[in-house]
Amino acid sequence: MEKKNIDWSNLGFSYMETDKRYVSNYKDGAWDEGTLTTDANVVLNECACVFQYAQTCFEGLKAYTTEDGHIVTFRPDLNAQRMATTAERLKMPVFPEDRFVDAVHKVVEANAAYVPPYGSGATLYIRPYMFGSNPVIGVKPADEYQFRVFTTPVGPYFKGGVKPITIRVCDYDRAAPHGTGHVKAGLNYAMSLYAIVDAHEKGYDENMYLDSATRTKVEETGGANFLFVTKDNTVVTPKSPTILPSITRRSLLYVAEHYLGLKTEEREVYMDEVKDFAECGLCGTAAVISPVGKIVDHGKEICFPSGMEKMGPTIQKLYDTLTGIQMGHIEAPEGWIHRIC
Ligand code: PLP
Ligand code: COI
Repeated sequence: MEKKNIDWSNLGFSYMETDKRYVSNYKDGAWDEGTLTTDANVVLNECACVFQYAQTCFEGLKAYTTEDGHIVTFRPDLNAQRMATTAERLKMPVFPEDRFVDAVHKVVEANAAYVPPYGSGATLYIRPYMFGSNPVIGVKPADEYQFRVFTTPVGPYFKGGVKPITIRVCDYDRAAPHGTGHVKAGLNYAMSLYAIVDAHEKGYDENMYLDSATRTKVEETGGANFLFVTKDNTVVTPKSPTILPSITRRSLLYVAEHYLGLKTEEREVYMDEVKDFAECGLCGTAAVISPVGKIVDHGKEICFPSGMEKMGPTIQKLYDTLTGIQMGHIEAPEGWIHRIC
C-alpha cells in the first residue's frame, strides 16, 4: 500500500478528509449491519435531536505505525466501554462494544494510506461518534441514531509540539456535580468553547477547571486530565467524579508503577498544593503528555521547576515509555495493542 503524499512532520491537529468512514444506523430498536462509505457528509432533518438538544457523544483514539511497520491502535476496547457508559447517560442506545472495535479496525484498515509513517511524529486520529438523528421537538431522546467513525491524520495537539504550555485557572465551569463531566458528551465541549476562546485571546494555551462546588480542587482541562509529579517523584493524578476517566491517564499510572517503579496516587488534588509539585502535564489521546510550564491563577504565577523549555525528567520518562509501547519498541501489557495489519 502506497502512503499518501502528505507532509507528515508538519501536520497540526486539524481535520483532513480521508477515503472511507464507517456508518451504522439505529432504527426500530436495532442497529443495522453497518458499512464503509466514501460519503463524508451527513444529511439530517432540520429537527434532528442532535441539532435541537445536542444528543451526541464521541470518542477519540489513534492508530500508530510501529517500528516494524505494523499499524496498531491502543486499547480500543476501553473507548468502546467508555462510549457505552456515555450512551447510557445520554439515553442513547449502546453500540455493541465488539462492533465498535471492529468498526475502528475496518476504518483504519481502509485508510491505511493515511496512517503516518513511523518516526514522523504524526498519527491517525480516529473519531467514533453517535447522534440522535430523527426529528424531536419535545425534550426527549431520539428514537433513531447514527454511529459513525472517521479518521484524520494529525500532529501535536498544542502548537509547538512538546514544548511546555501555559494555562490559566478558569472562572467558568466545565462540569457540575451529578452532571455529565465523567462522560464524553458533545455538550461538555460546547460548554467549554467560550472559555477556550477567551483563554486563547488572553494568551493561554488551555483552561484549568476547578471543581464547581468548592472551587478548591483541580479537575481537568477542556480536553485532557492532569498529571503531577511531587518533589520526591510520586506521580499524582486528580480523582473526581466529574472528570473524564482518561484512558491515557489510567495507562500512565500503570506505566509509572509497573515499568518505572514509581509510586502513584489517584486522589483529590487541592489548588493550594499545586505550587509544591515539581512537574505538571496534561494527558490524553490528543494531548499525549503535554508538559505544563506555568499555571496562572488570577495574576499569581505558578512556575514549575521543569521550566518552559523542556519536559521535566519524570514526565519525559512516562512519555517515552507510553509512546514506546504504542510504537512497538517497548513490550506492551497484555491486551493493550490491537493490531490492524
Ligand atoms: N479529559 C477530557 C475532557 C477529554 O476530552 C479527553 C480526551 O479524550 C481526556 C480527558 C483524555 O482522555 P483519553 O486519554 O481517554 O483520550
Ligand atoms: C481526545 O484526546 O481524543 C479528545 O477527544 C480531546 C479533544 C480535545 C480533541
